[in-house]
Amino acid sequence: YGAAQVLVASNRGPVSYEVLEDGSLHARRGGGGLVSGLSAIGPDAGALWVCSALGDGDREAVRRGAGESGVRMLDIPADVHADAYNGIANSVLWFVHHMLYQTPLEPVFDAEFRRQWASYETYNRAFAEALAEEAAEGAAVLVQDYHLTLVPGMLRELRPDVRISHFSHTPWAPPEYFRMLPDDIAARVLRGMLGADRLGFLTHRWAEAFTACCEQFAGGLGDTAVGVHGLGADADFLRRRSHESDVDERLTALRAEIGEGRRTIVRVDRTELSKNIVRGLLAYRRLLDDRPEWRERVVHVAFAYPSRQDLAVYRDYTAEVRRLAGEINERYGTPGWTPVVLHVKDDFARSLAAYRLADVALVNPIRDGMNLVAKEVPVVSDEGCVLVLSREAGAYEELGEDAVGVNPYDVVGTADALHRALTLPPGERMERTKRLAAAATALPPAQWFLDQLTALTG
Ligand code: G6P
Repeated sequence: YGAAQVLVASNRGPVSYEVLEDGSLHARRGGGGLVSGLSAIGPDAGALWVCSALGDGDREAVRRGAGESGVRMLDIPADVHADAYNGIANSVLWFVHHMLYQTPLEPVFDAEFRRQWASYETYNRAFAEALAEEAAEGAAVLVQDYHLTLVPGMLRELRPDVRISHFSHTPWAPPEYFRMLPDDIAARVLRGMLGADRLGFLTHRWAEAFTACCEQFAGGLGDTAVGVHGLGADADFLRRRSHESDVDERLTALRAEIGEGRRTIVRVDRTELSKNIVRGLLAYRRLLDDRPEWRERVVHVAFAYPSRQDLAVYRDYTAEVRRLAGEINERYGTPGWTPVVLHVKDDFARSLAAYRLADVALVNPIRDGMNLVAKEVPVVSDEGCVLVLSREAGAYEELGEDAVGVNPYDVVGTADALHRALTLPPGERMERTKRLAAAATALPPAQWFLDQLTALTG
């Protein structure tokens, strides 16, 4: 048996590599809850993170054997990875759980789908085999997300001694929607997950949907336990990071871009279909139409960072976001006022600067596992910020009471919510922000991770 006592498995790992011009490798450490959660158990805990090599830099790092300690990247053949990641995980499973299909045309589960599914099996098997090789006797293995639904079942067969959990960072589809998957595939996904000792979800809603799917299509949960762990924001990290000098610089630049004395409606997302950026822009346009008093007095600061651009629908969506933002600026803009400030280049320091100055944060996904932006903004906000929050975001379960809730499909309702948010008295706005920040940080990433570990090894 291998030596690792605690193993994490995910498609995207905590680090990515780039080959610099002089041929050397540059490692970039990613952010996010899991990375800080794993660092919380300490470097001596014998922890190992198994992930995919995602780009040329990562592949080169694997080839040179130059990876960071504590991380093992799997060099899965690029075509197999593309089928599994783009074809199955991000096109089929992501779409099912976020209910994104436009059903008169999609999905079509044809021979091409079956071919991609075979790659998804291969890709999951590569993870299961690597984990089986690396895990010490009785180790705890924490598998992450929809990319790796088959790993628990496969690993259980290879290594009956290890403890296995799987955590879903996405919603789970209700049975009525989940059943659009071919019967054998639906059963395969559920059986794969039920190979785990414990399954974790971000909210009760998703856990209940999963349980209902198991009852209808897999004869129940069997011996597998299901738990809810609502990942929260990392207050200490965010408060410190958001006052570093690069964030201050971005804040000054953003203020200049927005213009003196204007209110701001901020959003920060991956350019992701489920984030509903286009309807957000439509709601903002409606606000300017309906309530001309806001013209010149408000700016919609929209950061939409590129994501999954190998998929045509994502490229089209990105183009539509740009087009609509341009159209609004064209139609309403004046020499001294740009109604929509759209940025697409990923810049974490600038995101934090926007969080600090936001009067209103718009988080309107049509479906979202949790949504951490909704939790981060209240923590970082300088002077209080009103959260306009979709009731379809997992975060709504915890933050709904102090947010202004919206039906994400209702553009008129969202425009009204933006107006209400902009006009909330400053005192109430600050009170709500404080309560939101407290709720948002109730389960910090390190604790979130440890809770799962304890529940698994308990
Ligand atoms: C969601 C998923 C994660 C994924 C992230 C970014 O949050 O739950 O597993 O890593 O999106 O997507 P990407 O495809 O770039 O890894």
